[in-house]
Amino acid sequence: MEDERDATEAERELDEELAGDIDEDDTVEREREIDDAELREFEDRLRDSEAYEVEAEVFDEPTLRALYKLVSDGHVRAVGGVVSSGKEANVVEADGREGEVALKIYRVVASSFNDMRRYLEGDPRFEGARSKKELVVEWVRREYSNLRRAAEAGVRVPEPLAHERNVLVSEFIGGGGVRAPQLREVEIENPETCYDVVVEYASRLYDEGIVHGDLSEYNLLVHEGDIVVIDMGQAVDAEHPRADELLENDCGNVARFFSSLGVDTSRDEVLKQVTR
Ligand SMILES: Nc1ncnc2c1ncn2[C@@H]1O[C@H](COP(=O)(O)OP(=O)(O)OP(=O)(O)O)[C@@H](O)[C@H]1O
Ligand SMILES: [Mg+2]
Repeated sequence: MEDERDATEAERELDEELAGDIDEDDTVEREREIDDAELREFEDRLRDSEAYEVEAEVFDEPTLRALYKLVSDGHVRAVGGVVSSGKEANVVEADGREGEVALKIYRVVASSFNDMRRYLEGDPRFEGARSKKELVVEWVRREYSNLRRAAEAGVRVPEPLAHERNVLVSEFIGGGGVRAPQLREVEIENPETCYDVVVEYASRLYDEGIVHGDLSEYNLLVHEGDIVVIDMGQAVDAEHPRADELLENDCGNVARFFSSLGVDTSRDEVLKQVTR
Protein backbone atom coordinates (compact mmCIF):
# COMPACT_ATOMS: atom_id res chain seq x y z
CA MET A 1 0.00 0.00 0.00
CA GLU A 2 2.73 2.37 1.09
CA ASP A 3 4.84 1.39 -1.90
CA GLU A 4 1.98 1.87 -4.25
CA ARG A 5 1.38 5.39 -3.01
CA ASP A 6 5.06 6.21 -3.31
CA ALA A 7 5.15 4.96 -6.86
CA THR A 8 2.16 7.05 -7.87
CA GLU A 9 3.58 10.07 -6.15
CA ALA A 10 6.92 9.63 -7.90
CA GLU A 11 5.18 9.21 -11.22
CA ARG A 12 3.17 12.36 -10.71
CA GLU A 13 6.28 14.32 -9.87
CA LEU A 14 8.02 13.00 -12.95
CA ASP A 15 5.02 13.91 -15.10
CA GLU A 16 5.08 17.44 -13.77
CA GLU A 17 8.74 17.68 -14.42
CA LEU A 18 8.37 16.34 -17.94
CA ALA A 19 5.46 18.61 -18.70
CA GLY A 20 7.21 21.81 -17.71
CA ASP A 21 10.18 23.45 -19.28
CA ILE A 22 13.28 21.90 -17.90
CA ASP A 23 15.80 24.24 -16.45
CA GLU A 24 19.10 22.96 -17.73
CA ASP A 25 21.17 25.58 -15.96
CA ASP A 26 21.58 23.63 -12.80
CA THR A 27 22.77 20.47 -14.55
CA VAL A 28 25.02 22.37 -16.90
CA GLU A 29 26.52 24.23 -13.95
CA ARG A 30 27.34 21.00 -12.16
CA GLU A 31 28.82 19.46 -15.27
CA ARG A 32 30.96 22.40 -16.22
CA GLU A 33 34.15 20.45 -16.45
CA ILE A 34 35.21 22.05 -19.74
CA ASP A 35 36.50 25.53 -19.75
CA ASP A 36 34.14 28.00 -21.47
CA ALA A 37 36.88 29.42 -23.64
CA GLU A 38 37.80 25.94 -24.80
CA LEU A 39 34.19 25.21 -25.66
CA ARG A 40 33.78 28.45 -27.64
CA GLU A 41 36.92 27.62 -29.59
CA PHE A 42 35.49 24.17 -30.29
CA GLU A 43 32.22 25.74 -31.44
CA ASP A 44 34.14 28.02 -33.80
CA ARG A 45 35.75 24.99 -35.37
CA LEU A 46 32.38 23.26 -35.66
CA ARG A 47 30.88 26.27 -37.41
CA ASP A 48 32.75 25.26 -40.56
CA SER A 49 30.92 21.93 -40.75
CA GLU A 50 28.11 21.49 -43.20
CA ALA A 51 25.79 20.33 -40.43
CA TYR A 52 26.36 23.49 -38.41
CA GLU A 53 25.70 25.69 -41.42
CA VAL A 54 22.42 23.92 -42.11
CA GLU A 55 21.14 23.25 -38.60
CA ALA A 56 23.01 25.26 -36.00
CA GLU A 57 20.29 24.59 -33.42
CA VAL A 58 21.27 20.91 -33.30
CA PHE A 59 24.43 22.01 -31.53
CA ASP A 60 23.03 23.32 -28.31
CA GLU A 61 25.21 23.70 -25.24
CA PRO A 62 24.80 20.17 -23.80
CA THR A 63 25.34 18.65 -27.26
CA LEU A 64 28.48 20.73 -27.75
CA ARG A 65 29.83 19.38 -24.48
CA ALA A 66 29.04 15.81 -25.50
CA LEU A 67 30.74 16.29 -28.87
CA TYR A 68 33.72 17.93 -27.25
CA LYS A 69 34.15 14.84 -25.10
CA LEU A 70 33.79 12.50 -28.09
CA VAL A 71 36.42 14.50 -29.97
CA SER A 72 38.76 14.51 -26.96
CA ASP A 73 38.39 10.76 -26.67
CA GLY A 74 39.21 10.31 -30.36
CA HIS A 75 35.84 8.90 -31.43
CA VAL A 76 35.10 11.89 -33.67
CA ARG A 77 37.57 13.90 -35.72
CA ALA A 78 35.39 16.20 -37.82
CA VAL A 79 31.68 16.77 -38.26
CA GLY A 80 30.16 16.55 -41.74
CA GLY A 81 26.61 17.10 -42.94
CA VAL A 82 23.13 16.25 -41.65
CA VAL A 83 21.81 13.04 -43.26
CA SER A 84 18.46 13.02 -41.50
CA SER A 85 16.54 15.37 -39.29
CA GLY A 86 13.64 13.82 -37.46
CA LYS A 87 11.36 14.49 -34.54
CA GLU A 88 13.47 12.74 -31.97
CA ALA A 89 16.94 12.97 -33.37
CA ASN A 90 19.20 14.33 -36.06
CA VAL A 91 21.69 12.07 -37.73
CA VAL A 92 24.94 13.66 -38.79
CA GLU A 93 27.81 12.15 -40.76
CA ALA A 94 31.27 12.57 -39.26
CA ASP A 95 34.88 11.37 -39.49
CA GLY A 96 35.67 8.88 -36.82
CA ARG A 97 38.74 7.04 -35.64
CA GLU A 98 38.71 4.64 -38.58
CA GLY A 99 36.48 6.18 -41.21
CA GLU A 100 33.01 7.60 -41.45
CA VAL A 101 30.68 7.44 -38.47
CA ALA A 102 27.07 8.41 -37.85
CA LEU A 103 26.22 10.69 -34.94
CA LYS A 104 22.66 10.25 -33.78
CA ILE A 105 22.01 13.39 -31.80
CA TYR A 106 18.86 13.23 -29.70
CA ARG A 107 16.93 16.40 -29.05
CA VAL A 108 16.72 16.87 -25.33
CA VAL A 109 13.95 19.43 -25.20
CA ALA A 110 11.63 18.32 -27.99
CA SER A 111 11.44 14.54 -27.58
CA SER A 112 8.30 12.64 -26.60
CA PHE A 113 9.40 11.72 -23.14
CA ASN A 114 6.21 10.10 -22.04
CA ASP A 115 6.70 7.61 -24.87
CA MET A 116 10.32 7.05 -23.92
CA ARG A 117 9.35 6.49 -20.33
CA ARG A 118 6.74 3.91 -21.28
CA TYR A 119 9.37 1.85 -23.07
CA LEU A 120 12.03 2.33 -20.43
CA GLU A 121 9.92 1.48 -17.42
CA GLY A 122 9.15 -2.07 -18.47
CA ASP A 123 12.83 -2.74 -19.11
CA PRO A 124 14.56 -4.76 -16.41
CA ARG A 125 17.80 -2.95 -17.27
CA PHE A 126 16.23 0.42 -16.49
CA GLU A 127 16.62 1.62 -12.96
CA GLY A 128 14.53 4.73 -13.24
CA ALA A 129 15.79 8.04 -14.53
CA ARG A 130 14.73 11.12 -12.67
CA SER A 131 14.96 14.08 -15.01
CA LYS A 132 14.11 14.60 -18.63
CA LYS A 133 17.76 14.79 -19.54
CA GLU A 134 18.49 11.57 -17.68
CA LEU A 135 15.79 9.82 -19.70
CA VAL A 136 17.52 10.76 -22.96
CA VAL A 137 20.89 9.68 -21.62
CA GLU A 138 19.37 6.37 -20.56
CA TRP A 139 17.69 6.02 -23.96
CA VAL A 140 20.99 6.50 -25.79
CA ARG A 141 22.74 4.04 -23.49
CA ARG A 142 20.02 1.52 -24.19
CA GLU A 143 20.16 2.02 -27.94
CA TYR A 144 23.90 1.40 -27.76
CA SER A 145 23.42 -1.78 -25.76
CA ASN A 146 20.60 -3.01 -28.03
CA LEU A 147 22.82 -2.53 -31.09
CA ARG A 148 25.65 -4.37 -29.36
CA ARG A 149 23.37 -7.29 -28.45
CA ALA A 150 21.92 -7.40 -31.96
CA ALA A 151 25.40 -7.53 -33.49
CA GLU A 152 26.35 -10.35 -31.13
CA ALA A 153 23.22 -12.23 -32.20
CA GLY A 154 24.41 -12.09 -35.82
CA VAL A 155 22.15 -9.29 -37.00
CA ARG A 156 23.70 -6.75 -39.36
CA VAL A 157 23.43 -3.39 -37.60
CA PRO A 158 25.60 -0.26 -37.58
CA GLU A 159 28.40 -1.17 -35.19
CA PRO A 160 27.95 0.91 -32.04
CA LEU A 161 31.20 2.75 -31.28
CA ALA A 162 30.57 5.14 -28.42
CA HIS A 163 27.93 7.18 -26.65
CA GLU A 164 28.05 10.39 -24.68
CA ARG A 165 24.94 11.95 -23.11
CA ASN A 166 22.49 12.57 -26.00
CA VAL A 167 24.86 11.44 -28.78
CA LEU A 168 25.27 7.92 -30.13
CA VAL A 169 28.24 7.16 -32.40
CA SER A 170 27.97 4.23 -34.77
CA GLU A 171 29.36 2.92 -38.02
CA PHE A 172 28.14 5.01 -40.94
CA ILE A 173 26.03 2.97 -43.33
CA GLY A 174 26.68 4.55 -46.70
CA GLY A 175 29.70 6.20 -48.22
CA GLY A 176 31.19 9.59 -49.06
CA GLY A 177 28.81 11.35 -46.69
CA VAL A 178 25.78 9.84 -48.42
CA ARG A 179 23.53 7.55 -46.37
CA ALA A 180 22.49 4.18 -47.73
CA PRO A 181 18.87 4.07 -48.93
CA GLN A 182 16.03 2.74 -46.81
CA LEU A 183 14.34 -0.46 -47.99
CA ARG A 184 11.29 1.55 -49.04
CA GLU A 185 13.46 3.69 -51.33
CA VAL A 186 14.98 0.94 -53.46
CA GLU A 187 13.67 -1.25 -56.21
CA ILE A 188 13.83 -4.77 -54.83
CA GLU A 189 14.73 -7.37 -57.42
CA ASN A 190 14.29 -10.42 -55.23
CA PRO A 191 11.61 -9.74 -52.62
CA GLU A 192 11.56 -13.38 -51.43
CA THR A 193 15.26 -13.39 -50.53
CA CYS A 194 14.99 -10.01 -48.95
CA TYR A 195 11.97 -11.15 -46.94
CA ASP A 196 13.87 -14.23 -45.74
CA VAL A 197 16.72 -12.05 -44.49
CA VAL A 198 14.44 -9.67 -42.61
CA VAL A 199 12.56 -12.57 -40.99
CA GLU A 200 15.85 -14.26 -40.11
CA TYR A 201 17.12 -11.06 -38.46
CA ALA A 202 13.89 -10.59 -36.50
CA SER A 203 14.15 -14.21 -35.42
CA ARG A 204 17.78 -13.83 -34.29
CA LEU A 205 16.78 -10.77 -32.28
CA TYR A 206 13.93 -12.71 -30.73
CA ASP A 207 16.23 -15.59 -29.80
CA GLU A 208 18.48 -13.04 -28.13
CA GLY A 209 15.46 -11.77 -26.17
CA ILE A 210 14.98 -8.52 -28.09
CA VAL A 211 11.95 -7.15 -29.91
CA HIS A 212 12.84 -4.30 -32.28
CA GLY A 213 9.60 -2.43 -31.72
CA ASP A 214 9.75 -0.28 -34.86
CA LEU A 215 10.71 -2.74 -37.54
CA SER A 216 9.65 -1.50 -40.96
CA GLU A 217 10.92 -0.53 -44.40
CA TYR A 218 11.99 2.80 -42.82
CA ASN A 219 14.40 1.25 -40.36
CA LEU A 220 16.04 -1.21 -42.74
CA LEU A 221 18.84 0.14 -44.91
CA VAL A 222 20.20 -1.48 -48.04
CA HIS A 223 23.96 -1.35 -48.27
CA GLU A 224 26.43 -3.33 -50.36
CA GLY A 225 23.92 -6.09 -50.98
CA ASP A 226 23.10 -6.37 -47.28
CA ILE A 227 20.14 -5.38 -45.22
CA VAL A 228 21.09 -3.34 -42.17
CA VAL A 229 18.74 -3.01 -39.20
CA ILE A 230 18.83 0.46 -37.59
CA ASP A 231 17.02 2.57 -34.98
CA MET A 232 16.99 0.40 -31.87
CA GLY A 233 16.35 2.90 -29.09
CA GLN A 234 12.83 1.64 -28.55
CA ALA A 235 13.75 -2.05 -28.79
CA VAL A 236 12.56 -3.92 -25.71
CA ASP A 237 13.49 -7.01 -23.80
CA ALA A 238 11.23 -10.01 -24.43
CA GLU A 239 10.20 -9.68 -20.76
CA HIS A 240 8.81 -6.19 -21.33
CA PRO A 241 5.04 -5.94 -20.69
CA ARG A 242 4.53 -4.59 -24.21
CA ALA A 243 6.87 -7.05 -25.95
CA ASP A 244 4.10 -9.20 -27.47
CA GLU A 245 2.15 -6.25 -28.77
CA LEU A 246 5.30 -4.71 -30.30
CA LEU A 247 6.34 -8.02 -31.83
CA GLU A 248 2.95 -8.47 -33.47
CA ASN A 249 3.15 -4.97 -34.81
CA ASP A 250 6.67 -5.56 -36.20
CA CYS A 251 5.55 -8.79 -37.88
CA GLY A 252 2.50 -7.01 -39.28
CA ASN A 253 4.75 -4.33 -40.83
CA VAL A 254 7.01 -6.93 -42.41
CA ALA A 255 4.04 -8.89 -43.80
CA ARG A 256 2.36 -5.78 -45.19
CA PHE A 257 5.49 -4.50 -46.90
CA PHE A 258 6.49 -7.81 -48.49
CA SER A 259 2.93 -8.75 -49.44
CA SER A 260 2.80 -5.54 -51.45
CA LEU A 261 5.83 -6.87 -53.35
CA GLY A 262 4.08 -10.15 -54.08
CA VAL A 263 5.44 -12.33 -51.29
CA ASP A 264 2.81 -14.77 -50.05
CA THR A 265 2.80 -14.15 -46.30
CA SER A 266 0.78 -12.77 -43.42
CA ARG A 267 1.37 -11.32 -39.99
CA ASP A 268 0.76 -14.69 -38.35
CA GLU A 269 3.10 -16.41 -40.77
CA VAL A 270 5.91 -13.94 -39.95
CA LEU A 271 5.15 -14.28 -36.25
CA LYS A 272 5.36 -18.06 -36.51
CA GLN A 273 8.71 -17.94 -38.28
CA VAL A 274 10.18 -15.35 -35.92
CA THR A 275 9.20 -17.22 -32.76
CA ARG A 276 9.70 -20.79 -33.97
N1 LIG B 1 24.41 4.46 -38.82
C1 LIG B 1 23.82 5.12 -39.81
N2 LIG B 1 24.42 5.25 -41.00
C2 LIG B 1 23.83 5.94 -42.02
N3 LIG B 1 22.63 6.51 -41.94
C3 LIG B 1 21.97 6.40 -40.78
C4 LIG B 1 22.51 5.70 -39.66
N4 LIG B 1 21.63 5.76 -38.64
C5 LIG B 1 20.59 6.47 -39.11
N5 LIG B 1 20.77 6.86 -40.39
C6 LIG B 1 19.85 7.63 -41.25
O1 LIG B 1 19.08 8.50 -40.44
C7 LIG B 1 17.70 8.15 -40.50
C8 LIG B 1 17.07 8.29 -39.12
O2 LIG B 1 17.73 7.42 -38.22
P1 LIG B 1 16.91 6.57 -37.17
O3 LIG B 1 15.88 5.76 -37.86
O4 LIG B 1 17.90 5.85 -36.32
O5 LIG B 1 16.27 7.71 -36.31
P2 LIG B 1 14.75 7.94 -35.88
O6 LIG B 1 14.65 7.59 -34.47
O7 LIG B 1 13.83 7.31 -36.85
O8 LIG B 1 14.64 9.46 -35.95
P3 LIG B 1 13.26 10.25 -36.03
O9 LIG B 1 12.18 9.28 -35.56
O10 LIG B 1 13.47 11.39 -35.15
O11 LIG B 1 13.16 10.54 -37.49
C9 LIG B 1 17.67 6.74 -41.03
O12 LIG B 1 16.50 6.45 -41.75
C10 LIG B 1 18.88 6.71 -41.95
O13 LIG B 1 18.54 7.25 -43.21
MG1 LIG C 1 13.87 5.51 -37.88
